[in-house]
Amino acid sequence: MSEATPHDSAPLSEEQQIAAYCEKGRTHWPDEPVVALKTASVQSQIEDTFYEHYLRYFQNAEAKRRWSVVDDIPWAEARGNASELVVSIIESFCAVESFLPDYTSKIMALIRRSRGRALFQANWGYEESKHSLALEGWLIASGKRTEDEMEDFERSLLGAEWKLPFETPRQMICYTMVQELATGLNYINLRRLVHETGEGDPCLDKALRWLSSDESAHYNFFRKGVKTYLALDPEGTVADLKYVFDHFAMPAHALIPEWERRGAEIEASGIYGPKMYLAKIRKPVLEDLQISRTMLKTAGLPSHEADALADKIETKAEIAEQALYPRLRSLPTIPTQRPSTTKTLLTV
Ligand SMILES: [Fe+2]
Ligand SMILES: [Fe+2]
Repeated sequence: MSEATPHDSAPLSEEQQIAAYCEKGRTHWPDEPVVALKTASVQSQIEDTFYEHYLRYFQNAEAKRRWSVVDDIPWAEARGNASELVVSIIESFCAVESFLPDYTSKIMALIRRSRGRALFQANWGYEESKHSLALEGWLIASGKRTEDEMEDFERSLLGAEWKLPFETPRQMICYTMVQELATGLNYINLRRLVHETGEGDPCLDKALRWLSSDESAHYNFFRKGVKTYLALDPEGTVADLKYVFDHFAMPAHALIPEWERRGAEIEASGIYGPKMYLAKIRKPVLEDLQISRTMLKTAGLPSHEADALADKIETKAEIAEQALYPRLRSLPTIPTQRPSTTKTLLTV
């Protein structure tokens, strides 16, 4: 696989990564307006748009983001100098990824009538399946765990079963949007930690880069889905967002042995915790969704935070509008035609 991926550019700071995830989308994948026919039912518009989002996602993944667990991680460069803390955190993340059979089967059953979401979910399952393989592979390649120890650990997880945390497809897309951004941040911060402490190795570094890249792409698909719902049913979607924020928890933690200790060490290491969730996840997500001042408050933000965020969103929108206005003025008059996005994508 070519090494010319976005992940090989100069490393971004955590703030820059989050801003990039939230505001720009990934790898030449700009935000686009909902283009489904306005004469169709709301449900039909949502489905058309999800399908278009999926085709774009798939096209981008096939062209720029595919990676191989076998060939694209330098396994021979795994070292044994990581601390037991880092090893334990990687084992914890591996455990969360290991509930994939539940995530895929239960979410698929919930959204299978949506072609765009169902196809995405199938692709998502493939991509996620590589994450636990990569993490487990590093634990073994680095000599920090034996194959027998990993088998025992995986057996200890078998008795538990993850259940859907929310009941409706819209609530679940709100949940997965938040969860994917949080998961990506977990991997970014872990990678930074091992880099800063000098415990890392090229093998772990590369594996974590692939994983955070995937999580970022997943987040972007879901955020586009939430934006679609917001465009077509803002009140209902904001009510769901609030419900999800009020009840949000990362997946499977309650099912993993010793999670109390594991969660505490992840938080103490500055990788992820409740404060980080509020500042680096909930707030940027709401900012990115560009909902109104009133809706920010409805979504559950404290009034002063909602006002500050709304001011920021409005200022950004004004700047964007001012930048766009001269360009619009200089455009020649041409016949307008609805872009045939689906057809274009299908011929790629
Ligand atoms: Fe993952
Ligand atoms: Fe993911």
